[in-house]
Amino acid sequence: MKQQIINILKENKNNIITGSYIASILNITRSYVNKVISSLKDEGYNIANYNRSGYMYIDDIKVLNKDLIYNSLDNKIDVIIFDEIDSTNNYLKRVAKNYNELLCIANKQDSGRGRLGRTFISNKTNGIYMSLLVRPNIKLSDATKITCMSAVAIKDAISDLTNINPLIKWVNDIYISGKKVSGILVESSIEDNNLDYIIIGIGINVYRQKFDESIMNIATSIEHETNIVISRNELISKVINNIYKHINSFYTSDFMNKYIDSSFVIGKDVELNMRGTVIKAHVKGINNNGELIVDTDSEKDKVIYSGEITRMVLHDK
Ligand code: BTN
Repeated sequence: MKQQIINILKENKNNIITGSYIASILNITRSYVNKVISSLKDEGYNIANYNRSGYMYIDDIKVLNKDLIYNSLDNKIDVIIFDEIDSTNNYLKRVAKNYNELLCIANKQDSGRGRLGRTFISNKTNGIYMSLLVRPNIKLSDATKITCMSAVAIKDAISDLTNINPLIKWVNDIYISGKKVSGILVESSIEDNNLDYIIIGIGINVYRQKFDESIMNIATSIEHETNIVISRNELISKVINNIYKHINSFYTSDFMNKYIDSSFVIGKDVELNMRGTVIKAHVKGINNNGELIVDTDSEKDKVIYSGEITRMVLHDK
């Protein structure tokens, strides 16, 4: 029924048509038409309402479209789209044994996960919530660099579509105008001391949305920062193509240089949370392993392997 209603709306593009007209053609009630149109809007269809019962089809730029994504992939892999799921990372973990590679995308996640056991709020249709299952041919000790590689892939894809240049906050956040627009959660499975698979989970705030109070001051969206409504389909395929470009040339790719060049934290005074211990530090650089080099009160050129920057004093690099 959804598709039939879309067809009628599209055939009458630029004209207002009434719910009763659609109902009469399809032999259904007006209230059912209403219900279907609300759920189409939830999926991202841009349908204008006039005087309660008139509708006009505007566009579907915000709607996830599997064919559009698949056709734009350089490396053809299976794509699966859910309207709603617990977490795309969880889904791939459940099915990993059946696939070599798989891209899973959802319009909404009920239990989206972030780093350090946190929740990742996944507002319906307003963002990209996707995970890529890959089995890259890299050393286990290099697996941590996948986060840096993915950050560069996302940053470059956003720049391509908007002409703005996002920055990367060590280790896995993409920032625009000092606010977070995207985060990455990489999870790997190891077998006999070798990398079995990697799941690259990516969340991107694409469209303007009302953020939860807890993140209102630190989160933003691409649309809010640029006033551009980009297609999620295009952004998804660009990110995935960029990821494959780097994965396929992992040991010769320049992604780490790009990661360092796009750093939001180099030159800044920060507070670092390392498993509950908070230290003040000055960030001097990032090494070729993607680790942070800092000066603290007690140590120069300290290498930070993992942790989180919880506060930044903003001054120039
Ligand atoms: C972070 O900011 O700490 C990482 C956020 C990662 C969120 C993405 S959304 C798609 C995938 N599924 C999840 O449950 N998490 C990742």
